[in-house]
Amino acid sequence: MEMRKRQQIAVITGASSGIGEALARAMAARGTHVVLAARSAARLEEVAQAIRRAGGVATVLPSDLSQPDAAQRLYDEVTRLGLEVDTLVNNAGFGYHGPFESEALEHLHGQLQVNMVALAELTRLFVPSLLARRGTVLNLASTSAFQPAPYMSVYGATKAFVLSFSEALWAEYHDRGLHVAALCPGPVETPFIDAAGPEARGTAVFKHTLSIDQVVRECLAAMASTRPTRVVGWRNRLLCLSGRFSPRELVARMGARMMLPRSLSVPHSKGDLA
Ligand SMILES: NC(=O)c1ccc[n+]([C@@H]2O[C@H](COP(=O)([O-])OP(=O)(O)OC[C@H]3O[C@@H](n4cnc5c(N)ncnc54)[C@H](OP(=O)(O)O)[C@@H]3O)[C@@H](O)[C@H]2O)c1
Repeated sequence: MEMRKRQQIAVITGASSGIGEALARAMAARGTHVVLAARSAARLEEVAQAIRRAGGVATVLPSDLSQPDAAQRLYDEVTRLGLEVDTLVNNAGFGYHGPFESEALEHLHGQLQVNMVALAELTRLFVPSLLARRGTVLNLASTSAFQPAPYMSVYGATKAFVLSFSEALWAEYHDRGLHVAALCPGPVETPFIDAAGPEARGTAVFKHTLSIDQVVRECLAAMASTRPTRVVGWRNRLLCLSGRFSPRELVARMGARMMLPRSLSVPHSKGDLA
């Protein structure tokens, strides 16, 4: 008698838009049951409906990962539904672009919580069962993980955390059959850019953007590979590499030039030119 292969199950955070939504659709089209998490329940339901119309399987679990107990609650809900997870994609994340002193404390705290704390907690909660199934963790880092990101300082630091954390876990687990990978895209054309701040799009950094399709292909490749880190795009690979061989001060200053909000670069009076 022919044994039917068990359907793979993936939890994807930040699946209500951008990279997470597109990756969820792509994984569902390849036969994975996708569990969609983010805050916007209605939007997640639309994504799930589209996946089901295309013949896929999707479960919606609305979750605000900025809340301290959100990772535990999401994990408990997945467990309660009896879903045995093969892949965890920690994709939810957001940034703030602008002068550091202008970022609201609540927003800053939300970034730390979503980009780092929830990501680490979800990984910790799912790792035992992922180990048992020889599964995969994919963490969305960024090219800003490789150098400081002036005017996006907190965001860059959270992504440096994601990269370091992912590479450490990769080394801890790769001989035990669990694959942990960090994907590092440069700027991608998603709602992330405008959500980061009104001046982000006008900076040199956001001039060259990757397409969501390209990033999704790289996400799938990162999960299929055995390597810990994948930087998306040749221009970005070159930038990350050159930063490693340059003085840290120079790299930080170059970053400040590339991320400078236009309103700070325009002199306010003739006297400022002196
Ligand atoms: N776009 C870029 O330039 C770029 C470059 C490098 C790396 N990345 C990384 O790629 C990942 C995906 O970003 P994207 O570009 O696809 O941006 P996006 O379209 O804005 O998507 C961000 C996702 O995160 C979710 N999210 C935000 N706050 C959340 C919260 N408190 N709780 C749960 N989910 C939350 C959002 O859903 P809700 O609003 O519904 O909660 C949304 O689904 C992020 O980690 C980002 O840092 C982006």
